[in-house]
Amino acid sequence: MTEAKLIDGKAIAAASNEALAAEATAFAEEAGAPPCLAVVLVGDDPASAIYVRNKGRTAEKIGFRSIKRVLPADASHEAVASEVAALNDDPSVHGILVQLPLPAQVDASAIIELIDPEKDVDGFHPLNVGRLAAGELERALVPCTPAGVVALARDAMGDDLAGAEAVIVGRSNIVGKPAAHLLLAENCTVTIAHSRTRSLADVCRRADLLVAAVGRPALIQGDWIKPGATVIDVGINRAPPPADASPDARPRLIGDVDFEPARRVAAAITPVPGGVGPMTIAMLMRNTLTAAHRQFEARR
Ligand code: GUN
Repeated sequence: MTEAKLIDGKAIAAASNEALAAEATAFAEEAGAPPCLAVVLVGDDPASAIYVRNKGRTAEKIGFRSIKRVLPADASHEAVASEVAALNDDPSVHGILVQLPLPAQVDASAIIELIDPEKDVDGFHPLNVGRLAAGELERALVPCTPAGVVALARDAMGDDLAGAEAVIVGRSNIVGKPAAHLLLAENCTVTIAHSRTRSLADVCRRADLLVAAVGRPALIQGDWIKPGATVIDVGINRAPPPADASPDARPRLIGDVDFEPARRVAAAITPVPGGVGPMTIAMLMRNTLTAAHRQFEARR
């Protein structure tokens, strides 16, 4: 039995970042300053702190300017709003990302709507959501994880995805829905399945491209996969350590796909970790450079 090719998200992200570093140098020469990403972190959630640190490190590594604004966990809605307003008004800042989740006293939707849509490198502002849904990709900023999913699918299947049967399991605003719009723009035949889908296994078996983004560990079984399909696993779930593991063993990360059986059926599959994860930050950097170019062109 042949095994699926592993889609190496780490390597693909590294190659993308390397190309961006050269483009950032060219931008800085033309514009007189490098692309700049500002990240706002509210509170001290350890996972959020790590994400924010990694985003800043990657930005600096590829020659972007990186700004971090940290507010206390009890910061008021108004305090977060005025931080966003200041970054909107600063012409040297091209991209703004407010790390989610936000504390309960801050209205996250209202904060996202305050971000200048041209600086909304998460692609969460309703104007960017609408542009994506309308297929106006040349004007939109699109969410980073779904953009990474498409980049990995193209790496495995070739740049022309037209006509492929794409099944996305999961309908979140951050991954499932925007991934559906992006794959539609690639001329795939798109199905969004979810927890209430009838005969989920049969729906999955139709897929030439299966995108798993439900957050249910190893939900997708090997025999749900069409032989020769490409499988992109967005899930990041903590699995309990095996019974014979030492007491201080760290929890393993597993995806939404039951990896070993799936690997024996698919043609190409992403590992977890090391698949979609590294692509998210690479696409954030891509969005920041795109935003910088658009703002520079609009001002001259
Ligand atoms: N928290 C977890 N994922 C994300 C993301 O993609 N963007 C933001 N802003 N916060 C997050």
